[in-house]
Amino acid sequence: MQVSRGIVVGALLVVGCATAATTNVRPPLGAVLTPAATTGATVALKHDPSAKVILSNASALPAASFLPSQAKRGASVYAETCGTCHQPGQLIGQNFVELWNDRRVYDFYALVRSTMPLDNPGGMKEQEYIDVIAYLLQANRQASPKPDSLKADTASLRATKIAVSAP
Ligand code: HEC
Repeated sequence: MQVSRGIVVGALLVVGCATAATTNVRPPLGAVLTPAATTGATVALKHDPSAKVILSNASALPAASFLPSQAKRGASVYAETCGTCHQPGQLIGQNFVELWNDRRVYDFYALVRSTMPLDNPGGMKEQEYIDVIAYLLQANRQASPKPDSLKADTASLRATKIAVSAP
């Protein structure tokens, strides 16, 4: 399915610090943030300290559902692609739980979809992104509340949260 990159990147709100000091126009989209814009605290992206992603706290939302078949396919994507750069323990375990528990699934999806794999951002199939996210939820011990699939549907990704716990 075709999810607009514009929406993904726009909602991710990647904010450049360098220009923020002088103007209120944020690259890469040139969005103007008014002082009244309600955004959460910014989180430093480790691979680009000058970029910021705004993560919302979504603890009140229901946990996202996914199918075991999605997680299974996602395990292959992870092994073939993500695992070539990410060390064991980076995206699975305590580190992930601290960073992502109670966040909107959409925030994680948008970050991964627009920045990963680092050598080919946005270059995987939509299905592969969704599958690998289902895998990371499962690998971080999220229990799917319903036997339902994780969908590349921004409304449902925004309405559900990551509910993970460390092994
Ligand atoms: C070519 C190498 C490479 C590949 C392939 C890759 N990544 Fe990354 N990824 C990185 C690097 C480097 C960082 C920055 C890590 C850091 O600074 O800790 C990063 C950061 C991330 C982050 C954000 C971590 C943070 O705290 O800022 C996530 C989430 C992530 N990658 C997920 C994935 C997923 C999922 C895949 C597979 C679809 C993937 N990556 C594939 C290199 C890669």
